[in-house]
Amino acid sequence: MAASATDLETGRLFAEKSASLITAASPAMLEVGCGHGVAAGYMRSLARRLTLIDVDKTAIATLDGRWPGDKNVAIKQCDILAVQGSFDVIYYFLSLHHITNTVAELSAARRLLLRPSGQLLICEYEPVPGKPFHKNDYSPHDGFSHEELIIAASQSGISVSGIYDIATLPHYGTAYNVYVADCRLRR
Ligand SMILES: C[S@@+](CC[C@H](N)C(=O)[O-])C[C@H]1O[C@@H](n2cnc3c(N)ncnc32)[C@H](O)[C@@H]1O
Repeated sequence: MAASATDLETGRLFAEKSASLITAASPAMLEVGCGHGVAAGYMRSLARRLTLIDVDKTAIATLDGRWPGDKNVAIKQCDILAVQGSFDVIYYFLSLHHITNTVAELSAARRLLLRPSGQLLICEYEPVPGKPFHKNDYSPHDGFSHEELIIAASQSGISVSGIYDIATLPHYGTAYNVYVADCRLRR
């Protein structure tokens, strides 16, 4: 599926903000819910090693061979529970709201982060009352307000150290605010 110009621009803005937030010099990164690779196309240049996972077979198939010369990108069809290893940065680009149990998901991500500097970057949209983002498809959550995300992170052993608005995403005639939450391991 071809990404829209708006999706690509949101991915670019996410990578630009991530570049300014990531503290590790040459990070090993994991993207959960990589979909068709909008964010990965920009994020891969920031990573020493980038692992992309998604539960959807079709999405993973579209990424096969996308970056042929890029030996630092690994692509797997699985969820976070099947991931082994540890990462400087784990990110979710507009994918966390697709995952039913937010606290279980973020708790699993926390266990894969390198201590003490591991970083979780969550890009999400804020819900607009009465205007669900997903109208013609299903998603268990309608984005997350800043407060909802802070509570879910806290329940997962993660602190939100900053939330940054990066874009406005027009969708079905409504403008959704898109932000990046910079999350750290709780000390
Ligand atoms: C809107 S897409 C994300 C866009 C993507 N990050 C990009 O840059 O193109 C949401 C993705 O989350 C995936 N997903 C849903 N539940 C998941 C889970 N438990 N683990 C991993 N991926 C999941 C879906 O299959 C879908 O591809």
